[in-house]
Amino acid sequence: MKEVNKLTEKEKEILIKQIAQDLKETLSENRYLHCISTMKTARKLANQYKQEEQTVMLTALAHDIAKEMTQEEFVAYSKENDVKLEEIDLYAPAILHAKIGADIVKKKYGFTKEMQEAIYYHTTGRINMSMLDKIVFLADKSEERRKGTDADKLRELIEKEGLEKAILWDIDYYSIPRTIQKQRVIHPYSIEARNDIITKL
Ligand SMILES: [Fe+2]
Ligand SMILES: [Fe+2]
Repeated sequence: MKEVNKLTEKEKEILIKQIAQDLKETLSENRYLHCISTMKTARKLANQYKQEEQTVMLTALAHDIAKEMTQEEFVAYSKENDVKLEEIDLYAPAILHAKIGADIVKKKYGFTKEMQEAIYYHTTGRINMSMLDKIVFLADKSEERRKGTDADKLRELIEKEGLEKAILWDIDYYSIPRTIQKQRVIHPYSIEARNDIITKL
């Protein structure tokens, strides 16, 4: 299989359609529509921030490819495919679909390392987030199917304050508080991402 960065524009267009079809067949309708909507939001950000549109669209589209697997399936997949999981990952369920998803898109669609990383870190962020990381992270959380005052606030921040401040707000005022409410562990990547952004702002 060819790596995505070696595909022509036409081939990337075909791949977008193929992935959309695969997601339609394997995910619930709601999740599928979320993936499509995330892709559309990411496309706008890609244009605004002068990123290669199709790479961003492909990554955003596939970001939740593993979201509906069960905990048992995650563990089985990680063993069969040598995906390294940390002890803490098992207590932070959201990270599992991101790590496993990043492996699936490489094997199934030839995603590049950069694209895999954006999926790997899409729920938590990380130190030194790439532009692709930032766009996928925010498109996921701000796509137009997300309703409520938090989503509205995030969309406003993206527009008026820029990507970094929007990510920081999401981690500090949405993701971490919700994780605390659910009495789940806060993944260290989230803390690293926010500390990194704060020291750079
Ligand atoms: Fe996700
Ligand atoms: Fe998502």
